[in-house]
Amino acid sequence: MSYALQTVIENPNNLMRGVLRGDLAFTGVKTDSYTHRLHPFAAKFPPQLPRYFIEALTREGEVVLDPMMGSGTCLVESLLLGRKSIGFDIDPLALLISKVKTTPLDPIELYSFSNEMLDNIQQDLFCVRDEASVMYSRLGTRTEEFINYWFDPDVIAELQILKGKILSIEKKDIRDFFIVVFSSVIITKSGGVSRARDLAHSRPHRVYDKPFRSPIQEFRKKAQLAIKSMGGYYHALKKYKPVYEIQSASADKLPLPDNCIDIIVTSPPYANAIDYMRAHKFSLVWMGYTIEELSRMRSDSIGSEKIKISMNGNLSDKCENILSTLKSLDQKKEKVIRQYFFEMGNCLKEMARVLKNGKYAVIVVGTSTIRGFNVLTHECLASLGEANGLLVVGIVERPIDRDKRMLPMRRQSAQSRIEQRMQHEYVIGFLKP
Ligand SMILES: C[S@@+](CC[C@H](N)C(=O)[O-])C[C@H]1O[C@@H](n2cnc3c(N)ncnc32)[C@H](O)[C@@H]1O
Repeated sequence: MSYALQTVIENPNNLMRGVLRGDLAFTGVKTDSYTHRLHPFAAKFPPQLPRYFIEALTREGEVVLDPMMGSGTCLVESLLLGRKSIGFDIDPLALLISKVKTTPLDPIELYSFSNEMLDNIQQDLFCVRDEASVMYSRLGTRTEEFINYWFDPDVIAELQILKGKILSIEKKDIRDFFIVVFSSVIITKSGGVSRARDLAHSRPHRVYDKPFRSPIQEFRKKAQLAIKSMGGYYHALKKYKPVYEIQSASADKLPLPDNCIDIIVTSPPYANAIDYMRAHKFSLVWMGYTIEELSRMRSDSIGSEKIKISMNGNLSDKCENILSTLKSLDQKKEKVIRQYFFEMGNCLKEMARVLKNGKYAVIVVGTSTIRGFNVLTHECLASLGEANGLLVVGIVERPIDRDKRMLPMRRQSAQSRIEQRMQHEYVIGFLKP
């Protein structure tokens, strides 16, 4: 335990203290079961983490919320445990991946759609090659330039034909499933079929020596794996009737009534650490989003560098102390982190509003180092939770498996200090009294 427990709750019903003492390392566990492997997502939970808290702190039929659900790991695990599940995010790719990962689909039906789609695709490819650029030029010059810069003409032609085949599927759930498979051909650690070298760990760099990878062949392989994973999930869920809701909403304005949630398990963006849109735009442009729209969405994300909210009101003393040191090192970053704390304070207030009394919130967060100074995000978020109606039961540190979490970094080399810091993260256990 690295946190001096300021608030020790002497409540015999307080399960959380015991639960936080458990082994949260989950070393060597399998993280790709069920639909968890459908699409890469930076800093996603190991599934065992939300499962552990949900299983220990709720009963079947109770309601689990992840207000910043990312790729929906918490929702999938809730459903597998027979809980009701609610998730929000503002990133369209996160919303789509989560929807697909939670919606059980019959693998036999998926196989038949996949076979139909891929059977005559090579002949069709021959016919459309010349028309390929016409299909995306309506997205505007910047988006067209983006596509032409990052994708080889032969890759563009194959992606276009795949996209056309997928969009012609009438059943929306099946169509969405294959759109996620399509996206997984582009977003991989190695930059998938794009010309980017690395979409996970650094700013993408265009490379010219990357061997051609056929999107159709990649799609064929990924579709097989995805259908197999969906099969496992589909059969496991037969035991329960899954009840879930996924919506686009910001975590500081949840479209939920007061006191309706039995547990929150979530992992907010780290302060100043991950730029999701930088990688996600590589596949979102293929789904009809323009670069302009995606830039706007990027600045809406919590933790973005764009200053967008009025920062009136008080933060906790803990946050102010951290910010005052940071200001002496980097005034611009101080504003970014100040905004992050304000936004997270508003999110924690919403979490306290929607949680039932006597119920728990589990927040998992990494730490950020700016100009060599550790921002102690976990301690700041703990103090913001306390200022907004939650009690801190405890904070524990857990190691993270960098490879599995696919953590992208901003502007730092692989050996940098921040990289070392992100070998672990913190789990904050809150109680709504
Ligand atoms: C660390 S990720 C969550 C990963 C998730 N636990 C998983 O297993 O995939 C944080 C998420 O917060 C989302 N986010 C950022 N700003 C948000 C906001 N204002 N409201 C809701 N979600 C937001 C990001 O889009 C991202 O998907």
